[in-house]
Amino acid sequence: MNGKEKDLLVKAKQILSHNWKDGFTVPTNRLYPFQWNWDSGFVSMGFGHFNLDHAMNELASLFSGQWRNGMVPHIIFHSEKEKTYFPNYDFWKANVNAGAPNKPKTSGITQPPVHGFILEQLLLQHPKEEKLIAFAKILFSKIVDSHRFFYQYRDPNREGLTFIFHPWESGRDNSPLWDESMDRIVIDYKKLPKYVRRDTSLADPSERPTSEQYDRYVYLLELGKKHKYDGEGIAEESPFLIQDSLINAILIKSNQSLINIGKQLNLDTGELKEWQSQSKKAYKQKLWNKELGCFTTYDLRGEHQILHKEIGGIFPIFAEIPTKRQAKKINDYLVDLHNRKYYICPSFDVDSPLFDSKRYWRGPIWPQMNWMIYHGLKAYGYDKTAKIVRKDLMELVQKLGFYEYFESQKSIVKTINKGYGGDSFSWTASSIIDFIYNP
Ligand code: SER
Repeated sequence: MNGKEKDLLVKAKQILSHNWKDGFTVPTNRLYPFQWNWDSGFVSMGFGHFNLDHAMNELASLFSGQWRNGMVPHIIFHSEKEKTYFPNYDFWKANVNAGAPNKPKTSGITQPPVHGFILEQLLLQHPKEEKLIAFAKILFSKIVDSHRFFYQYRDPNREGLTFIFHPWESGRDNSPLWDESMDRIVIDYKKLPKYVRRDTSLADPSERPTSEQYDRYVYLLELGKKHKYDGEGIAEESPFLIQDSLINAILIKSNQSLINIGKQLNLDTGELKEWQSQSKKAYKQKLWNKELGCFTTYDLRGEHQILHKEIGGIFPIFAEIPTKRQAKKINDYLVDLHNRKYYICPSFDVDSPLFDSKRYWRGPIWPQMNWMIYHGLKAYGYDKTAKIVRKDLMELVQKLGFYEYFESQKSIVKTINKGYGGDSFSWTASSIIDFIYNP
C-alpha cells in the first residue's frame, strides 16, 4: 500500500463510519437518507475489512424489511421522521401488500440481489470467525427466500429469467435502455398524483433524471400500488416489463455464491442448483447478441432484445456467464475505450447519440460497477484490463473525491474538480477499501 492509498483508505473508512446511523448506513447524507438495498451490500463488504459487527448489522437491518413473499425492498425507511426524500414510505404505501412489514416501513419494489455474493465475500475475509458463520447460517435462508421471490413472482413464463417493472429496480434508473418502454407511457396529468422532487434541490439537476422520466417513475409506482405490488397483475398491465441483463446476472452470481456457501456450511442447495442451471442456460440463449458483441436486456412487452451497448451487457463477465470467445469480445471493447481516452467502464455506449457523460446512468462511471467488472475480468484472466478498471476508479476518486459517479471522458476530467451526484458516498468508499485490501 503506497502513501496515496493509505490516505484514501483513511478517508474511505471515515466516510463509512460517518454514514453509519446506528444500525444501518445511508448511501450519502441528505440525497439518500435511508437504507438502500444494493448499496447496503457494498457497505457491508467495506465494513467487513474493519468492523465486522457493523458489516453484519448492515445486512441484518436490511433483511428486517424483507416481505413475507421473500422480496427485499429497494429502500428501508428506518426513520419515519425524515421527510426530505421523495417518494417517502407514505407515498409507496407498501402495506397494500399484506406481506409487507408494518415496521420498518419500506418501498414496494426491489433491486439487484447482491447479498449472496457479498456474504461470500465476508466469509472469504473471515473464514474462521464463529460469529460470522452463525450469522451466515441464518442469513443464508433469508437470501434464498429473496431469490425464490424472483423465480416465483417475477417469471410468469418460468424461463429462469426475472422481470422488473420499474427502472429503479434495475439500479440504472435513467439508462437510455428504458427510453422506448418509457415512451409507451402516456401520462394523464389529471390522474397522476401531485408530487415534489427533492433530489434536484440536493444534487445538480443536469446530473439527475429529467422531470419527464420522474413522471413515469411515479406512474409505474402507482401501477405497482394498484396491483398491491403483486407480480401477476403487474405482468399483465405494465408497459415497462423488462428482463434486465444486470439484475439477472447478479441473481446468477449470487446463486453461485450461495451454492458455494451451502457447500462450506453444509446447507441445502438443491433448489438453488435447479434455478442456477435453468437461469444460466436461458441467459446465454436469450440475451447474447452477436452483432453487438455483448449481452442485451430483453423487452418482454415489445418482445425483442433492446439493441444498445451498455454496462449491463458487459457485466455478465462478473457472473462468469460468457464463453471464452464472448469474454474476449467484451475485453476488446473495454481496451478500445481505454485507447480512445475514456475511463472505463462508462455506463452507456459512448458512440450513441444518447450517451451523456454527466447524467446519472446515461454515460458516467459507477464505482461499484468497476469493482464487479474488475473481478469478472480477473476471473477470465484479463488481468491487464482489470488493472486499468481498478486504476481508473482509484484515480477518479483521488482527483475528484468520493462521489456517487464520475465523468467518463478523460478530456473533461482534466477540466473539473469534483465528481457527480452525492458526495462522501458509501459504495465508493467500500469499493476503494476492498480494492486496497485485495489488490
Ligand atoms: N435511485 C433512485 C433515486 O435516485 C431510487 O432508488 O432516488
